[in-house]
Amino acid sequence: MPVVNVAILTVSDRCSCGEAEDKSGPALKQILLREEFVVWKEDCVADEANLIEEKLREWSKQGSHVDVILTTGGTGFAPRDVTPEATLRVVERLCPAITTAMTVASLKATSLAMLSRSVSGIKNSSLIINLPGSVKGATECLETVLPCLQHATDLMR
Ligand code: MTE
Repeated sequence: MPVVNVAILTVSDRCSCGEAEDKSGPALKQILLREEFVVWKEDCVADEANLIEEKLREWSKQGSHVDVILTTGGTGFAPRDVTPEATLRVVERLCPAITTAMTVASLKATSLAMLSRSVSGIKNSSLIINLPGSVKGATECLETVLPCLQHATDLMR
């Protein structure tokens, strides 16, 4: 089975300045390693659209070999939640069914799932998926899309 290279971007004001510990990024990494995916890069940025956009562009640039970029955080309704807007600046093709699948699965666990504005899309050969910021939300959503990541990667290569 070919390798799937994944990058994880935690988006959080408090984690980026060391005020809080990033728990969601490591929780996602643990699931990915369990599935024998390669965690290629991990980083954390503040809830600033320009910083998020810059990181997504760097990781998804032509020839980067990053198959999947997972963001966690900044998808909600708070004024500083801008991860979806930054993602929309980068992606060339939307993948709305991925977002729908996460929403449908998440709504079975909590009605609060409707408070995530996550988007999914493709830039070059990288699939970018926004996940919620809580460990619970991020891991539930990752478990939902996990079965499709290998095939999605094969299709984009
Ligand atoms: N999705 C799942 N599966 N489980 C959750 O607990 N939390 C929701 C939602 N999606 C949640 C979820 C909540 S409470 C919020 S506010 C939104 O994700 C946005 O979270 P974010 O701003 O941290 O990205």
